[in-house]
Amino acid sequence: MTDATSETATSRLREEHELILAVADAMQTLIAAAAAERWDLDAFQDCVTFIRLFADACHHGKEEDLLFPELEQAGLPHDQGPIAVMLAEHRQGRAFAQHMAGALDGARAGNADARATLRNAAAGYVNLIRSHIQKEDNVLFEMADQMVRGPACQKLCGAYGGVCARSFEGHTKEQLQALGDRIRDRALRA
Ligand SMILES: [Fe+2]
Repeated sequence: MTDATSETATSRLREEHELILAVADAMQTLIAAAAAERWDLDAFQDCVTFIRLFADACHHGKEEDLLFPELEQAGLPHDQGPIAVMLAEHRQGRAFAQHMAGALDGARAGNADARATLRNAAAGYVNLIRSHIQKEDNVLFEMADQMVRGPACQKLCGAYGGVCARSFEGHTKEQLQALGDRIRDRALRA
């Protein structure tokens, strides 16, 4: 965990990446079990909730509403380069989550096409988010840590705290982290 004195412009976001990657690993296990006809559809539903509310609303929300505008103010362009690529990948992730959500009812009814859609969209999300996080951690966040320092960094980190204290469709951040842990437990039993 970071504390106020050691927090950088990206340390809280990097910590969140670790949980998102752990859930991506769990999703890979759930997808492999589903391919062998061992479906845990409640776990897939939890994955959709986790992606929508933790990875997107809570995590990407801080990037898009706070970090990226700060970097733009410091000179990075919005419409090209790393920020534009990250924004496009966030949109792709939302599309995968929507495809998963849209296939859940059919998958529960045993529809083979819906199950294939659910599995493929989940696999697409796992591939996307792994390469996306690698790019953020190793490229954009390295730039951010150099560009946003001192009082600007403290102000940004304070604003992160405000987002993290929000309710995400009735869930706290801590509850969503616990949901991520439950998905990992389910995958261990898949
Ligand atoms: Fe991120």
